[in-house]
Amino acid sequence: MRILTFTGKGGVGKTSVSAATAVRLSQLGYRTLVLSTDPAHSLSDSFNLNLGSEPTKIKENLYAIEVNPYVDLKENWQSVQKFYTKIFMGQGVSGVMADEMTILPGMEELFSLLRIKRYKASGLYDVLVLDTAPTGETLRLLSLPDTLAWGMKAVKNVTKYIIKPLSKPLSKMGDKIAFYVPPADAVDSVDQVFDELVDIREILTDNVKSTVRLVMNAEKMSIKETMRALTYLNLYGFKVDMVLVNRLLDTKENSGYLEKWKAIQQKYLGEIEEGFSPLPVKKLRYYEKEIVGLASLELFAKDMYGDTDPSDMMYDEPPIKFVRNGNIYEVQLKMMFANPVDIDVWVTGDELYIHIANQRKIITLPISLTGLEPGDAFFKDKWLHIPFDLNQHDKNQHRKDYDKVLN
Ligand SMILES: Nc1ncnc2c1ncn2[C@@H]1O[C@H](COP(=O)(O)OP(=O)(O)OP(=O)(O)O)[C@@H](O)[C@H]1O
Ligand SMILES: [Mg+2]
Repeated sequence: MRILTFTGKGGVGKTSVSAATAVRLSQLGYRTLVLSTDPAHSLSDSFNLNLGSEPTKIKENLYAIEVNPYVDLKENWQSVQKFYTKIFMGQGVSGVMADEMTILPGMEELFSLLRIKRYKASGLYDVLVLDTAPTGETLRLLSLPDTLAWGMKAVKNVTKYIIKPLSKPLSKMGDKIAFYVPPADAVDSVDQVFDELVDIREILTDNVKSTVRLVMNAEKMSIKETMRALTYLNLYGFKVDMVLVNRLLDTKENSGYLEKWKAIQQKYLGEIEEGFSPLPVKKLRYYEKEIVGLASLELFAKDMYGDTDPSDMMYDEPPIKFVRNGNIYEVQLKMMFANPVDIDVWVTGDELYIHIANQRKIITLPISLTGLEPGDAFFKDKWLHIPFDLNQHDKNQHRKDYDKVLN
């Protein structure tokens, strides 16, 4: 099953783009399911239909589902929730609040993703289109299981080797201690959820079948956030194969008082094309009215894809790589510039600036690299390599310690 995930800042057009992509795929004969993890019923609004929390057939080859995250959460997390609610309430937290405190931000959406595995295994769909919550947060969350799975194993082992053998003597010690011991079903469901999340991450980082597409508007904030998303998605192994810039005013028509906006958009569009190259950048126009209902979505899809197939791989390698070799961390960028003479590289805050001839590129650095000075950049087979020496972290720390002593 091919998986296309659309992500981006709030309100940029993710749901509209996802729905239109699904419409186009179904026209091409792919059995397509579009899944939204947004509890705000946005897909229903987009199709102008009442969608359920199980796949609803819209037309030949086209199915849509609006996951009810609370149902999925309950199904997978109830036993854990019960246990923690009991503890929180024991500390004087009120019932509803205690319930809420057992849900981490972004967790509802994470549970919706568990469905991916089910639909993949069903064999009923050729393509799954995922309409996700703002900018890759969930995908980042999905990268946690590596760390969390370790913790979960520890919990499991503690239960297996310590708590179970001790449960009788513990219970004799009175209710107070037994109160804080998680019941076996809670431990099991934590374990199961995290195992499944590891599977889901594997599915979504399968770079042959699964790609992420970034939807944005030509606005400063949108560009920054999308850059950040691109960095982290690359860092965590998700393959981004396209950027879509939505709501562009038509340059051929007079837009009245929006003329100024048009100039601003064109300026940012240039920055986007430079900054995200070599990823393909798809430009989508601003329509005179909302994109609602099948007919509007068909038109939007036609403008977006023409005769092309949305399930094609639009770009086939990661545009940014983070490679660690001992204490040297290299940021590697695919560059299309033919013969670079002058390369200027510097860092401000968590942003890496690269100037080549009159072209500029800005990359958001992962937190682990901020505060480091880049070494000398060099080109190798169309890839720009920018080394960072992690020893600097230690040196910086030593310098700070030294300064402290001196002062
Ligand atoms: N190119 C466009 N031209 C005109 N209207 C658009 C365009 N793209 C999206 N819209 C409209 O903008 C509104 C928001 O779009 P949409 O719901 O797709 O955004 P979203 O990114 O999914 O938002 P959220 O972050 O809230 O989920 C909708 O009413 C949609 O019809
Ligand atoms: Mg939406």
